[in-house]
Amino acid sequence: MEESTLVCTDVPALVDAIQTLAVRGAPLLGIAGAYGVSLAALRGYDVEEAAELLAEARPTAVNLAYGVRRAAEAHRAAVKNGAGPEGAASATLAAARELHRQDAEASRRMAAHGLALLDELLPGGSHRILTHCNTGALVSGGEGTAFAVALEAHRAGSLRRLWVDETRPLLQGARLTAYEAARNGMAYTLLTDNAAGSLFAAGEVDAVLIGADRIAADGSVANKVGSYPLAVLAKYHHVPFIVVAPRTTIDPDTPDGASIEVEQRAAYEVTELTAPHAVGVGPEAGTWLPVAPLGTQAYNPAFDVTPPELVTAIVTELGVVSPVTGDEVAKLCARSRQV
Ligand code: MRU
Repeated sequence: MEESTLVCTDVPALVDAIQTLAVRGAPLLGIAGAYGVSLAALRGYDVEEAAELLAEARPTAVNLAYGVRRAAEAHRAAVKNGAGPEGAASATLAAARELHRQDAEASRRMAAHGLALLDELLPGGSHRILTHCNTGALVSGGEGTAFAVALEAHRAGSLRRLWVDETRPLLQGARLTAYEAARNGMAYTLLTDNAAGSLFAAGEVDAVLIGADRIAADGSVANKVGSYPLAVLAKYHHVPFIVVAPRTTIDPDTPDGASIEVEQRAAYEVTELTAPHAVGVGPEAGTWLPVAPLGTQAYNPAFDVTPPELVTAIVTELGVVSPVTGDEVAKLCARSRQV
C-alpha cells in the first residue's frame, strides 16, 4: 500500500479525479468542489461554467453541490461588491478554506457525539463495530465521519474490533479503511461484503456505523451500495444501525429516498477487478483483471437507500437525531439555521 498525492491544477483534471474516485466521499467532495471553484477563479476561467461542471461531476453526494455553491456564492458576492478578479479569487479561496475548517470541526464533534451514543446504547464499553466503505481522514477535513467515531472509541479503549467490509466493487473498505485502521493501530478485520450475514448470526456485531452521501428530509439515507442490506441485517439481529454525517449531508430539498438520484457506474467495475494500488478507477488507472465473460452486462449502482425506519440514529456535529423521522430531521435543520 502506498499513499500518494494527486495535484489537480485545473478544473477538468479535478472533474476527472472526482469521476474516477481519486477524490471521493461526501465531505471531501464538498471541500474539493469549493477549492475547484476557487481554482477556476484564480486561473481566470469562467467561474459559473466551472461551478456547473464540478457540481455535476457526480450526482448523489449532496456535499459536492453544496461546496461548489458556497464558493460560487462567495465569488458572486465579491464581484457584486466591486472586487476585481484577484480580490474575487481570494474571497472564493477564503470560502473554500472556511468550509474545509468547518468540516474538520464537524468531524471532531461527530466523533464525540458518536462515542457518547455508543456508550449509551452499549454500556460496558467493548464495542465490535461493523463499517462499510471508507469514512476516515481520507474523505474529510478532519478524521472523518463513521470512522472518526470508531477511532474515538479506539482512543477511549472501548473498541474491541472494527469489522471492515471490503466494499465491492471498488474496494474502498479493503484499500482505504483497512489502511486507515492499520495506521491508527486499531484492531480490525477485513471481510467480504457477503460474509456480514454470518458475522451477525454469530453475534459478533454490536453496532453498525456508516457514513452518508445524502440524507433526505424524511431521514432516508443514501450511502455506498451494500449499506441497505446491512441495515436489514441489523434490524433482524437487534443491532443499532448508526449513520454519521455532517449537517451538510442532509438535503431538506430532497423529500424522500425515492427522490435521491443514485449514480450508476460502468459495467467494467463489476466485470473486472482493479489493482489495489490504483489511485483512481478507470481503464487507465491501473491493471484490470477480467472476472466475467467478455460482454457480460452488469448492474452497478454506486449507492443504495436505507429507509428511516431501519436507522437507529443519525449522528451530526449538531447532535443526534433519534428516532429518525422527518420531524426530528427538520428540528435538527432548524437548529442549524440558528447557529
Ligand atoms: O463512491 P464513493 O467512494 O464516493 O462513496 C463514498 C461513500 O459512500 C461514503 O460512505 C460516504 O460518502 C460517506 S464519506 C464520510
